[in-house]
Amino acid sequence: MGPRRWLEIGFGGGEHLAHLAALHPEVSFIGAEAFQNGVAKLLAEIEARQLRNIRIHYGDARELLEALPDASLNRIYLLYPDPWPKERHKKRRMIAPETLNHFHRLIARDGRFFFASDIPDYVDWTREHVSTNGGFDEVSRNTAEPFENWTRTRYEAKAVREGRAPAYLEFRIL
Ligand SMILES: C[S@@+](CC[C@H](N)C(=O)[O-])C[C@H]1O[C@@H](n2cnc3c(N)ncnc32)[C@H](O)[C@@H]1O
Repeated sequence: MGPRRWLEIGFGGGEHLAHLAALHPEVSFIGAEAFQNGVAKLLAEIEARQLRNIRIHYGDARELLEALPDASLNRIYLLYPDPWPKERHKKRRMIAPETLNHFHRLIARDGRFFFASDIPDYVDWTREHVSTNGGFDEVSRNTAEPFENWTRTRYEAKAVREGRAPAYLEFRIL
């Protein structure tokens, strides 16, 4: 097996990505983020912690999904994607049939897709889309429990402070 490669989509301030990269120097990380301030924050963190295993795609993560070769990732993290709550905006959600087709193509055998959200409707939406895709199995876990080696981002802290309960879903590629 070649080097392990994990992707985080929409890493925001990069807290979770930097945390995982520091814990796993043997893994190559890619972070995709469209928001310039977020990229700048992660760059500062990379410098401060002397991290050598993160590459950044500054722009739309979907461009990166198109460009990456088959089975080139072992994990994809999509944490607190923008909720787009209005019915007419839901088509803008990151979880969509095309994105899941890419995830399925990109994640190597036995790989995982990790999803977290504080929006129950988005959690249901994700389960439905994943089930329609048919190429993933939901790993049975306590969805109120964060993933292993978790670190709370500012975004998550705000959601919890405002009374929203996070759900953490893990899917295995079939
Ligand atoms: C609600 S924030 C969550 C940030 C972070 N994942 C966290 O949990 O703290 C969603 C992030 O996704 C980014 N984003 C939204 N659409 C994106 C896209 N198409 N490509 C890359 N990043 C995107 C936004 O800029 C924003 O930083």
